[in-house]
Amino acid sequence: METVTERIARLKKERNAIILAHNYTNPEIQDIADFTGDSLGLSIEASKTDADVIVFCGVTFMGETAKILSPDKTVLLPRTDAICDMAAMCSPEALAKRKKELPNHVVIGYVNTTGPTKALMDVCCTSGNALKVVKSLKEDKILFVPDKNLGSFIARNVPEKEIVLWDGCCPIHDALTIEEVATLKERYPNAYSMAHPECNERILEMMDFIGSTEAMLNHCRTSEHKEFIVVTEVGMKHRLETECPDMTFHFPESAVCQPMKYITLESIASCLEDLSGEVILDDDIIRDAYQPVNRMIQIR
Ligand code: 13P
Ligand code: SF4
Repeated sequence: METVTERIARLKKERNAIILAHNYTNPEIQDIADFTGDSLGLSIEASKTDADVIVFCGVTFMGETAKILSPDKTVLLPRTDAICDMAAMCSPEALAKRKKELPNHVVIGYVNTTGPTKALMDVCCTSGNALKVVKSLKEDKILFVPDKNLGSFIARNVPEKEIVLWDGCCPIHDALTIEEVATLKERYPNAYSMAHPECNERILEMMDFIGSTEAMLNHCRTSEHKEFIVVTEVGMKHRLETECPDMTFHFPESAVCQPMKYITLESIASCLEDLSGEVILDDDIIRDAYQPVNRMIQIR
């Protein structure tokens, strides 16, 4: 009798498929993925793969980004109901309206947005390259959507630009409290602290390092510290422990992104089996969204 892992391996070969997984997915998903990483790394990987099928283990906007970058490939989402709450906070209709109110502002959009919203941006960014993208622009007036926490982190670091924020956030990172982080700091007084820029300013002020999930991992790889407090989604713990086995990581237990946990080995096998969960975007959305996403990929 074939195990689910063997079934995935067989179907992957039959379909010429690649499995990409975000750092927040369950450990068993990360363990069978061909590539695990942050939004930026996953976008780059999706743009350069020669596989026919991309199975995207992450929330839906991530699969849409892969489709925008590789429109000729079949992109499958093991769970089409794995929706990022932040991406749902910036509809294309609302963005179109705001753009009319701010005709002289260039629109920079976080990758955590849907395809139709991306189609209205000038340039896209992830938390891994946001500062670089903003600094690379000649324009000084920016509308940043949808994450107000990442946006205000950028505004503090690039004060020469005028940045108008959108009223959106990640409900998981934004809900983390100073008390929760202070308790971790009291419990592990020698730990080096890191947080994702989706956390609010008061938490970021308490940190030694701020960065995307992959930036945190890279920081650990070259660090002389052995113990870390990591203020981001708990799925990242497995990735850090796998890559840095001699280090210890402490996370806030409440930081759980449920949609990321929907993806199971069974759901991967079943989408490979019948090619269900395919990302479908209109051609004009792909065409218009490709420009800001590709522009981001070119800024390294
Ligand atoms: P990263 O790009 O840092 O992996 O972040 C994605 C995300 O959704 C964070 O909540
Ligand atoms: Fe979206 Fe937050 Fe989940 Fe990241 S952690 S995918 S921003 S809901």
